[in-house]
Amino acid sequence: MVSLQAVRANNSALKELGPGLVAVFVGGTSGIGESTAREFARNTDSPRVYLVGRNQAEATRITQELQKLNPEGKFHFIKSDLSLLRNVDVACKEIQAKEEKINLLFLSCGYLTMKGREETPEGLDRKFSLNYYARMRFAQNLLPQLSAASQSNTLSRVVSVLDPNARGSLVLDDLSLKTHFSLSNCATHACTMNNLAVEELAATNPGISFVHAFPGLVKTGVTRGYGPILQTGMAALFVLLKPFTVPLGESGERHLYAATSKTFSPKSKPEESAAVGSTGEKGSGAYWLNWNGDPYGGVPAKMKGYQEKGIGKQVWEHTQDVFQKVCQEGGKY
Ligand SMILES: NC(=O)c1ccc[n+]([C@@H]2O[C@H](COP(=O)([O-])OP(=O)(O)OC[C@H]3O[C@@H](n4cnc5c(N)ncnc54)[C@H](OP(=O)(O)O)[C@@H]3O)[C@@H](O)[C@H]2O)c1
Repeated sequence: MVSLQAVRANNSALKELGPGLVAVFVGGTSGIGESTAREFARNTDSPRVYLVGRNQAEATRITQELQKLNPEGKFHFIKSDLSLLRNVDVACKEIQAKEEKINLLFLSCGYLTMKGREETPEGLDRKFSLNYYARMRFAQNLLPQLSAASQSNTLSRVVSVLDPNARGSLVLDDLSLKTHFSLSNCATHACTMNNLAVEELAATNPGISFVHAFPGLVKTGVTRGYGPILQTGMAALFVLLKPFTVPLGESGERHLYAATSKTFSPKSKPEESAAVGSTGEKGSGAYWLNWNGDPYGGVPAKMKGYQEKGIGKQVWEHTQDVFQKVCQEGGKY
């Protein structure tokens, strides 16, 4: 476990990276994204921060607060429903028009639901799209700006917050779960595909590091999509489980560590202190992290099987196929 003291030592040294770091928080209007953006604003010198989400009122509250925390910083909001990949492309263009380099892409958009498959006009399940496809579309679109940051020898990292400790098996002939949708299959696919995608991205972009992090149990707005009865039940559950939860502020501090520590170095710039990556190789550039900053020890048996069979390539080709049909051809998957 990385101690909170070590987390704070890392975060309080971030000003040494120099002024003008750029971070994009996709899902920065609430919960873990908001909390991490706050720590980023607190600990960096003259940062430029983009929060992406739908909630204008929350975004105004947060950007005003961040501006007070760091008067030299610049804080922007991009309002967008990211369950549509074509909206992701528009949001990325807006950022790219302003920034040549991006140091941190932090991906935490999503929500919990008990509903079944909710198909978007692009032919994907809404929740699955937010937890996987939209996140990977952001990462792919912003690779040139992340690479530019890497080439100028500063931080260049993508962090996706979900759960690397995926349970269940992939339905390999229906990766988007058109006909095999269930909430548990959706969770398995989103988590496993995040795992495999960060490995594919790290292999082809060795100057950038990619992290898939589990936050633990954190009291946030994530249950707001539930009906009132379930929400009350969840609130009671959080009270009972309080000793096992991660306080929201600490979660922000820990995710800022995951987003900036040299331990999670890119493949092309190995650090002496580099952690063991998802392939078992030290400093591999792709890291699956537990809530406390520890890389998942050893590779879970199922993931090892997927790695040995090259399923990551299949997942990435499928992802490209979705992007081609939806974003390039303007159709539906
Ligand atoms: N909290 C936990 O205990 C926990 C545990 C394990 C995994 N996770 C996962 O971690 C991620 C972050 O969770 P959180 O707890 O920080 O949740 P949260 O407080 O609800 O934050 C979710 C963020 O996603 C954004 N979002 C949701 N739907 C969107 C849409 N259609 N378009 C654009 N943005 C959208 C929200 O922004 P707007 O409302 O402005 O749209 C918000 O900023 C989620 O994927 C969650 O499943 C959380």
